[in-house]
Amino acid sequence: MDKIISLTRRRGFILPGSGIYGCLSNSWDYGPLGVELKNNIRQEWWKRFVLQRPDMVGIDGALIMNTNVWRASGHLDEFNDPLVEDKKTHERYRLDDLLEKNGVDVAGMKIEEMSKKMKDINLKSPKGNELTEPKMFNMMFETYLGPIKTENNKVYLRPETAQAMFVNFKNILDTTRIRLPFGIAQTGKAFRNEITPGNFIFRTREFDQLEIEYFCREKEWEMHFEHWLSEMHKWVKHCGISSKNIKDYETPDSDLAHYSKRTIDIQYKFPFGFKELYGLAYRTDFDLRSHMEASGQDLRYVDPETNDKFIPHVIEPSFGLDRTLLAILLEAYREEKIENGERVVMRFPYWVAPVKVAVFPLLNNNKKLVKKAQEIFDMILPNYTTQYDDGGAIGRRYRRHDEIGTPLCVTVDHDTLENNTATLRDRDSMEQIRVDLDKLLDVLDKYFTGEKFNKLGKIIK
Ligand code: GAP
Repeated sequence: MDKIISLTRRRGFILPGSGIYGCLSNSWDYGPLGVELKNNIRQEWWKRFVLQRPDMVGIDGALIMNTNVWRASGHLDEFNDPLVEDKKTHERYRLDDLLEKNGVDVAGMKIEEMSKKMKDINLKSPKGNELTEPKMFNMMFETYLGPIKTENNKVYLRPETAQAMFVNFKNILDTTRIRLPFGIAQTGKAFRNEITPGNFIFRTREFDQLEIEYFCREKEWEMHFEHWLSEMHKWVKHCGISSKNIKDYETPDSDLAHYSKRTIDIQYKFPFGFKELYGLAYRTDFDLRSHMEASGQDLRYVDPETNDKFIPHVIEPSFGLDRTLLAILLEAYREEKIENGERVVMRFPYWVAPVKVAVFPLLNNNKKLVKKAQEIFDMILPNYTTQYDDGGAIGRRYRRHDEIGTPLCVTVDHDTLENNTATLRDRDSMEQIRVDLDKLLDVLDKYFTGEKFNKLGKIIK
């Protein structure tokens, strides 16, 4: 993890938030390469789960919603973690975390039972001090709408993207021709005032979610649950994440969220242990029913054939974008022995790579080479994210692009000026081929759609 943190900082993927002011704890900014990585993941997810499926539509809802939404969804009452405080240092901890670290299985435990257990085992803070009595802490961030701070204007930043999809269920039925079973997708920020954020971007107080609410008939929920579990696994593989680092965790009934009848966490083997990467929940008709009761609006679905009216049930595949990005970084990172030393290479799947092609002039002080390299750069740029790089020896430029996971490097040399060909170097095999520049765009298209590298041109090394 330290190596990933250091590489992502050095290369401008992920930077400590508010850095020049001594940072803000557990806040991270995505730099120029990080934002490309994040956008690539979000766009690929959207393409796969929204654009390429006839049974899906997307929305982009507001971050701040009417407080009645959070009352009806149960977040005002239920979105709590048990908080204890070190009596001496006043540091705060999640009691369930502390108990688990002391070997206690907290699955299904209520706060009263945790409090008793804490006394039974004489639990101390990590600094060895007495702890306060636990109390429930609501994780929603509060703010106020407008200039006056009163209870009536108090609102919350959304703690999940899910609710806008329930609240817009009827609007979507009315404005599209979509019929059951169908899903609504949304991506965007969610905010949680986590008591113990940490492990880099694994647990933060603001993070991006990629969520789907899939509406179906009650009797079909198991079939859709299985379908989405399989889709989630296929996505994980598509991200280049090895199946040996993934496992499904069936949440025991006693530990289910207030809205769920079945939840499987897809866990990833992070350096700090197997932890939740994604969640798949059967939310029953809990949300639509609660919103229907609380708003007084009829949110039932009318079957166009039978005219039956009923509240659809919901399967929710929920993906964390930042956790996806972290797992992709961890999987892609390799240290490899090479002919004259070592290299660090990010073996990203091509679609993930923030830069797809790098273009180098062999010498940066030769006007003809520089001009030609710039022409090639201009030609590729409208088609693929491309960087022009003329800093240092060629070997160093290759190392630099290996480290940021650039799949292809194009080098312009003296022969290029003679015969209009250039060298292409493949990140993974480090093989080099010579290609005709008139065919370069075609060669790139073939490369990025999976054609074997050595079939694309003349091997030179
Ligand atoms: N709508 C359901 C829901 O929000 P969740 O398990 O609380 O369920 C879904 O969150 C996903 O969001 C998680 O699987 C994880 O990937 C991501 N996530 C949750 N809390 C997070 C945090 N504090 N920091 C980063 N990602 C988080």
